[in-house]
Amino acid sequence: MMIRYTLALLLALFVSQMFGETTNEVSHCNYLLRENDVTDDAANRFVSKLMSKMTYEEKLGQLNLLTQSDFVTGEARNHGFETKLKQGRVGGVLNMVGVAKIREAQRVAVEETRLGIPLLFGFDVIHGYKTIFPIPLAMSASWHPEAVVDAASIATLEAASAGLNWVFSPMVDICRDGRWGRIAEGSGEDPFLGSVMARAMVRGIQGDATFSGNDKVLACMKHFALYGAAEAGLDYTKADMSRHTMYNDYFPPYRAAVEAGVASVMASFNDVEGLPATGNSWLMNDVLREQWGFGGFVVSDFTGVSEMAFHGIARSDSVAGVALCAGVDMDMVSERYVNTLKGREQLVDKACRRILLAKYRLGLFDDPYKYCDPERERQNIYKEENLEKACQMAKETFVLLKNKDRVLPLKGGERVALIGPLADSHGELLGNWCARGDWRQTPSLREALEGRLGKEKIAYAKGCNIYYDMQLNRNAYYPEIDKRSVDEMMREADSVARNADVIVVAMGETANMSGESASRSNLDMPDAQRDLLKRLATIGKPIVLVLFNGRPMSIKWEKDNLDAILDVWFGGSRAAEAIVSTLYGENNPSGKLTVTFPQTVGQEPMYYNHKTSGRPLGNAQWFSKYRVNYIDISPEPLYPFGYGLSYTDFEYGPVSLSSDSMLRGDTLRVSVRVKNTGRYDGVEIVQLYLRDVISKATRPVKELKGFERVALKAGEEREVSFPIIYDMLKYYDYNLNYVAEPGDFEVMVGRNSVDLQTLKFKLLE
Ligand code: NOJ
Repeated sequence: MMIRYTLALLLALFVSQMFGETTNEVSHCNYLLRENDVTDDAANRFVSKLMSKMTYEEKLGQLNLLTQSDFVTGEARNHGFETKLKQGRVGGVLNMVGVAKIREAQRVAVEETRLGIPLLFGFDVIHGYKTIFPIPLAMSASWHPEAVVDAASIATLEAASAGLNWVFSPMVDICRDGRWGRIAEGSGEDPFLGSVMARAMVRGIQGDATFSGNDKVLACMKHFALYGAAEAGLDYTKADMSRHTMYNDYFPPYRAAVEAGVASVMASFNDVEGLPATGNSWLMNDVLREQWGFGGFVVSDFTGVSEMAFHGIARSDSVAGVALCAGVDMDMVSERYVNTLKGREQLVDKACRRILLAKYRLGLFDDPYKYCDPERERQNIYKEENLEKACQMAKETFVLLKNKDRVLPLKGGERVALIGPLADSHGELLGNWCARGDWRQTPSLREALEGRLGKEKIAYAKGCNIYYDMQLNRNAYYPEIDKRSVDEMMREADSVARNADVIVVAMGETANMSGESASRSNLDMPDAQRDLLKRLATIGKPIVLVLFNGRPMSIKWEKDNLDAILDVWFGGSRAAEAIVSTLYGENNPSGKLTVTFPQTVGQEPMYYNHKTSGRPLGNAQWFSKYRVNYIDISPEPLYPFGYGLSYTDFEYGPVSLSSDSMLRGDTLRVSVRVKNTGRYDGVEIVQLYLRDVISKATRPVKELKGFERVALKAGEEREVSFPIIYDMLKYYDYNLNYVAEPGDFEVMVGRNSVDLQTLKFKLLE
């Protein structure tokens, strides 16, 4: 081992002298001799033969990923695409969509370049291509991985039918801070659930990863690493934490995606331990490749390579070397590799090989047009059956946060006042990153309600804009700003509400208030909407809030003052239909939160699986001096992780454990009977948590380790039981050894992360 590292160092020094690198870059390069990924299989033989014909410039071309103008997903543009393509200076394209265009670009690559190497075509298919599913955060709230596999399969089939062969999904960043807008794109705060969803997404996108047909494409796990831990919830900022926290809490979903066979990985924008991820060899080479055995290729994020100059890591003409040494194979948009990399043959060879292997794996050398059939494009996209699946998925994501006096479901005969700036919106329902989703074909909530009840039964008023401040409305990308005065709009809403039996308000965030570069410093209901709610609350009619959001919100006033709150996130192409069927009880909500809702933004980052302290509040009353609590807010969240109500009631019997001790190879079983005691059929998500009571390093107060979605008819009862195996007790200790330590454990089972029954057992030596 020592010899290998010494050799690596000597070689790195040699390379640095040859090519004038700084010592800083040398240290990133010492993995040169650690890897030997050229095996003698057919794919490698093919690629070796091809590479033997390639010039250094042509190899660099394979490392170059350019953006096209069908979609804008970053500030920079690439010019002269066709010329560069013909010169063999392009390896892949993003943001070009549709078979006609893609086929033509592929034709140029195959027929008009010297070696005819086909292109990769990538796109952000985050929750649908044209048929839009709910945002990923919402899909995670379904706790239904099989449904997520289906959603990702449909999205992939549509994308693959539109010519694409690579999607920049899944996004698996753990996020514990609702201020970060991109929390919408992931599966929330929990590493266990995040890992389950990561595997489901990779499975949906890549299937068995043989790519023998043309319905599966390369997935891209992102953003490696720790992007969701951005300081202060501010996008692109550094993420600083101990390796113990990385390994236990943030890495599991990335690793799960790798173990599920994800073909590519995207480096994140942020700085990790003083190095941008794009230039962080420890992340890409040591953790991803060596420790986890990742065998695919790594792509930078959009201009992530050139941005290292802004991070101050290297001058603009040497950032490429830093990224390449760090193990980033493909340069998205910045063109630093193709324009500035000199004398890097060995590393360029490695990167080029990985990219060519991915193309080979896809079968592009056999048939570069396998995804380019216009007939499939016509047939497979936006089919009614896809839309029905999207509707069904949306129904499973809704979380009923409050339902005082069972105001929901509506009975059917009520006069409804529909109010709010999102009530007649089309585009907002699609959410952020909605690819080719078409707002014109997306019914609004108003239209869906009118469709059900008839126009004359619904009284509608917009009531307000999102914010009072027009600059904020513009920042929120709210296109439907109403120019009427605040008073006029409020009066109209007031009079509409007075003539109704129930007030349904559609409020919250616009689609673009979450997603990339959409951090918020305040998680409350925006001012204009809250003031309108306050006014409506004086009328004395039941108020149902249909909440649109891409993140947890501090809706304390709403919780305290409204009758019902149905969190519908951004539900996609058929969200409106799903909402209406839920309001009227044909769908019984079963979603549960995968992010903690704080009472106030000041509690962020807030998450259920926190550590205790030497001065826990325990059973002491808030406020207690010299204990861990705020003086101005009680310590609870507004709504805890795992929380969600149903139209029916579920009763839990006593929890039982098969034994109070276990040996290494044993399996314990923890069981509970759950009964649907209400009048509606429903689905309950039963949750299992564990706590390691005494351990060598501090452990969270509880951690999710299992869950089951249980469908129960009214009156039905079932036993739910979870195995507890040795591996579930393991964690990364202070020295990053993955161990289970003998001693006391607590096992908790219940309906959410707070409402739990606890039993104890011992892991014996
Ligand atoms: C930037 C985003 O961070 C990333 O998620 C996305 O895949 C790329 N742009 C490409 O659009």
